[in-house]
Amino acid sequence: WARFAPYVIEINRLKAERNAVVLAHNYMTPEIFHGIADHVGDSLQLAIRATEVAAEVIVQCGVHFMAETSKVLNPGKTVLMPDMGAGCSLASSITAADVATMRARYPGAPVVSYVNTTAEVKAASDICCTSSNAVKIVEAMESDTVIMTPDQYLARNTAAQTNKRIVWWEGACIVHEQYTAGELRDYRRLDPGVAIIAHPECPPEVVAEADYTGSTGGIIDWVTTHRPAKALLVTECSMASNIADALPDVEFAKPCNLCPYMKMITLEKVLYSLHTMTGAVEVAPDLAEGARRAVQRMIDVSR
Ligand code: 13P
Ligand code: SF4
Repeated sequence: WARFAPYVIEINRLKAERNAVVLAHNYMTPEIFHGIADHVGDSLQLAIRATEVAAEVIVQCGVHFMAETSKVLNPGKTVLMPDMGAGCSLASSITAADVATMRARYPGAPVVSYVNTTAEVKAASDICCTSSNAVKIVEAMESDTVIMTPDQYLARNTAAQTNKRIVWWEGACIVHEQYTAGELRDYRRLDPGVAIIAHPECPPEVVAEADYTGSTGGIIDWVTTHRPAKALLVTECSMASNIADALPDVEFAKPCNLCPYMKMITLEKVLYSLHTMTGAVEVAPDLAEGARRAVQRMIDVSR
């Protein structure tokens, strides 16, 4: 912590000076999560929080689509992205033209797009979803057939929990698609008491090996409530690091995978962005309007 302290102190001072808040995703490093974040959470929690922020400036510690979501919900505020290159393999897997192709293939079916998409794709969709509300959103659609984009695994895992016919885009998260059912079975064989907790961006056969599957916020709630002696979080590495101190009775097992995009956000970059007020995210007004409609509809349905 000693090497982080000067950054943490200066960022927190600047936050007050600039009337800024830091919204941080659960995959941020512990020094961001514990040192400078005003609000932490999963994608849905951060989107809802973004609608409630009073400060003039939002510093988004997460990836680009999250900053875009905050911006479309707060067009009058400055939303700073400490590294514009922090993307997402899901968001970059699909365009608005691809959404139109899916609509042509399944006429009349509504498009439910994961929040891990660009504002352009959100604007081309009927509604958004996150990993914590996907089943609820899909079931709120009137049509029997629902198009889910861009995460094929979230779509397949959702399909297993609903009677709707789900069709999907073939995107994947480069972090969660790496896990295999075989490695989890090996892990359980070596350590039969371990609680295996997976994110729904994992392939269905991986989810089938898990004791619980949920969003990053859901995972934190489950571990906090159930207090397993040993837990294997089948998700991004920082999750376990961020909650370990508050749960000293839980031993967190490896393996975990790093998200290279999330890890592009560092204290140094946050400080630079807040000091110079550079890295403001802009969304074209017509796209922002469409994206806001899809995100707000999701928030309304999930309340
Ligand atoms: P949640 O925090 O909504 O579970 O999403 C995880 C993720 O991969 C965000 O990029
Ligand atoms: Fe995208 Fe996966 Fe990284 Fe989340 S963990 S930002 S879904 S690449």
